[in-house]
Amino acid sequence: MTSPDPTGKPLLDTARGIRQARPPVWIMRQAGRYLPEYRQVREKAGSFLDLCYAPELATEVTLQPLRRFDLDAAILFSDILVIPDALGQSVRFETGEGPVLEPITTDTLGRLDPDMAMANLAPVFETLGRIKSALAPEKTLIGFCGAPWTVATYMIGGRGSSDQAAARLFALQYPDAFARLMTLLVDVSADYLIAQLSAGADMVQIFESWALNLDELAFETYVLAPNKALVEKVRAAVPDAVITGFPRGAAGLIGRYARETGVNVIGLDYATPLAFADSVLPAQFAVQGNLDPLRLVAGGPQMEARAQEIVEAFSNRPHIFNLGHGIVPQTPIENVARLIEIVKQ
Ligand code: CP3
Repeated sequence: MTSPDPTGKPLLDTARGIRQARPPVWIMRQAGRYLPEYRQVREKAGSFLDLCYAPELATEVTLQPLRRFDLDAAILFSDILVIPDALGQSVRFETGEGPVLEPITTDTLGRLDPDMAMANLAPVFETLGRIKSALAPEKTLIGFCGAPWTVATYMIGGRGSSDQAAARLFALQYPDAFARLMTLLVDVSADYLIAQLSAGADMVQIFESWALNLDELAFETYVLAPNKALVEKVRAAVPDAVITGFPRGAAGLIGRYARETGVNVIGLDYATPLAFADSVLPAQFAVQGNLDPLRLVAGGPQMEARAQEIVEAFSNRPHIFNLGHGIVPQTPIENVARLIEIVKQ
């Protein structure tokens, strides 16, 4: 196998299959409430969605973690739920409660309007352009969207839930309406990722945060097929698009996700056993992950030992160091600095 030419961006190159001597690192949700400078901007922005659609402020919070830490990537500051918002569904973020949407029904599904969606998302593309011009050339700029199923669970359920029962039942009881919704989300998400790549993103991540609680057939229908369709649509427009898939909770099905969707990198959650991942993923397939965010909260020797184990487990394939899910607000900043230091040692 011939390796592609390096781009000079270690994280992007790792995603393209070129292993680095030290794993490059970024942290899911690296811009956020654990940083006092984020909380300050967040307060003056108004609502959370206002912040997502304010290019100057969104650029600022995107860059904040890179000023503190030696991270190899910036991730666009936005949210996966800007897609339902751009389609005209009511989306609010309640403090301490998370997102609240007006649930989609078989009757209201037809009111979603894809025609204005990209125009509504124009501020996000402007943010990407601003980040791109401010970012050092060796840093990778990551764009993202939610995977169709994960976004659908919020659109149907109206809020986060531990078992996605509302969406799982909707899919079984109204298969035609569900299929229409998924097709719409694949199409809009593909347009969205393509526009992000042309606005300055070096690569994109698909967050399939709710790949859990699904039987095999549901996983094939809600996760594998739509992720594959999304990747194919993006590559039809941008043939060399570099794409990470993060199917959180996919467990025994990570091998199929990696082989069947066409992503370049698979993000592993912290419950995935290291040796299992290494044995079921194709040789040389790039991985990202997978430290438990609570190990970063607690810090100290347990965190360092586990980080070391993760680095060693993936020493024979391209590896991007990251957490196995997003950083949590109570994380001490000095633990983040220490983690990055030991991964880079
Ligand atoms: O990673 C980053 O720094 C970039 C920004 C980013 C946010 N959300 C900002 C955010 C990204 C990549 C996301 C992705 C996202 N959003 C996911 C997938 C990743 C995952 O965690 O599984 C999901 C499921 C969402 C939906 C969402 N947004 C929820 C459930 C919540 C509430 C929980 C929480 O963390 O508050 C949000 C709000 C949100 N998104 C915040 C931030 C910084 C906090 C809101 C605030 O600052 O007031």
